Amino acid sequence: MVYPVLGLLLHLAAQSPTIFAEQNICSPSDDFQKINLPPEHLPYYLHNHQDVARSCRQDQRCPYREYLTQPDSCWGYEKSCRKERRFSYPHCDKVDPGWARNLEGAQEVFWRQADFGYVMERLAEEQVLCHPREQGDSLLACSSHLQHCRATNLYLDLRNTKRSQDRFKEDFIQEGEIGGHCDLDSKLLLSQGDRKSPLQSWFAELQAYSSLRFRPIEDGQCDVIVEKPTYIMKLDAGVNMYHHFCDFVNLYITQHMNNSFSTDVHIVMWDTSFYGYGDLFNETWKAFTDYEVTHLKAYDSKRVCFKDAVFALLPRMRYGLFYNTPLISNCRGTGLFRAFSQHVLFRLNISQETLKEEKIRVTILTRSTEFRKILNLDKVSFSFLFLSSLIICDY
Ligand SMILES: *[C@@H]1O[C@H](CO)[C@@H](O)[C@H](O)[C@H]1NC(C)=O
Ligand SMILES: *[C@@H]1O[C@H](CO)[C@@H](O)[C@H](O)[C@H]1NC(C)=O
Ligand SMILES: *[C@@H]1O[C@H](CO)[C@@H](O)[C@H](O)[C@H]1NC(C)=O
Repeated sequence: MVYPVLGLLLHLAAQSPTIFAEQNICSPSDDFQKINLPPEHLPYYLHNHQDVARSCRQDQRCPYREYLTQPDSCWGYEKSCRKERRFSYPHCDKVDPGWARNLEGAQEVFWRQADFGYVMERLAEEQVLCHPREQGDSLLACSSHLQHCRATNLYLDLRNTKRSQDRFKEDFIQEGEIGGHCDLDSKLLLSQGDRKSPLQSWFAELQAYSSLRFRPIEDGQCDVIVEKPTYIMKLDAGVNMYHHFCDFVNLYITQHMNNSFSTDVHIVMWDTSFYGYGDLFNETWKAFTDYEVTHLKAYDSKRVCFKDAVFALLPRMRYGLFYNTPLISNCRGTGLFRAFSQHVLFRLNISQETLKEEKIRVTILTRSTEFRKILNLDKVSFSFLFLSSLIICDY
């Protein structure tokens, strides 16, 4: 008895496709729920998504109506953002004369080095390297040194890949194997190679980008078409929190550059080896995507096309944001890192409970090697002595 009923339903659906549209399956509140950002970020999100703000204003069920009252809140990198409305501003105690002349100058330097000013500077650098000629063409636009790129209708031919032990082989992609249907400024592209290096630039991957005679998707030149927006990343070591979080922070900053925080996106790990990727912190991806991370080798022997791809900021760029970033001294309080922390804790649903114990146990891991030593271990342990029981492990 079940089959005829099903058949009837399918039949009806096929005849009148509007049935589903009229039912309004996605109620507006579902769309609002999907935004899924910490409450303290919502005024900023709404400021940058006027269309969402508008429909929220018109919809009594919108759960964010209280955040519509601060319409000029901005992260700081938006062109129209007034300084006093920024998400936050760092604090400096002293002027570092090598970098700035007064306290205000020092704060501005720090804001550009390690706060949302960093996003502003990367956005300002963006240049179009491959110009679309008409609707449906491809685009390639990048920040300086190819530290970050946006690409549409991107073609990538992996039919002749030669994998090795090398995770970031620099001649993995040859001429003609990557490109798009657009006018390429090859001189400009090739002038961006001065920081070519696995975790510093996308130059090795994109230097072969070429202007194709065909439209990859429309002309049926793709074996796989990735429709959903995709972040392409080269990752630092996944077995070490210190390293791996440089990946996550840079992905978050990349999302700010693109002004989108949806988790309905794919993440492709660019890796030219035949190895998998050991990831001890893989739960963290849930803050960024609803799907599993895809290893590039999943597309081997195919031509894969991405409708909308972003090459993410890398985890060890010179003057980029990672553990070795040179920074002006005596300044603290970057809003960018605070926002990252709030974002990840919120999306992973980690609640912070107040400490009930009087004393906490602190374990310091230290190395007796020539490098990477904690130089002020005595001071650190002294300051912990009164509030905790302290164990120092030398390994
Ligand atoms: C980047 O932002 C644009 C414009 O909002 C959006 O259409 C696209 O899907 C985003 N791309 C990614 C990879 O999130
Ligand atoms: C993380 O990795 C473990 C072990 O490989 C796996 O069982 C788990 O499903 C992964 N979780 C996510 C969110 O990918
Ligand atoms: C988030 O965590 C709280 C408790 O900390 C729990 O009650 C709630 O069900 C969790 N929500 C989700 C979506 O996991």
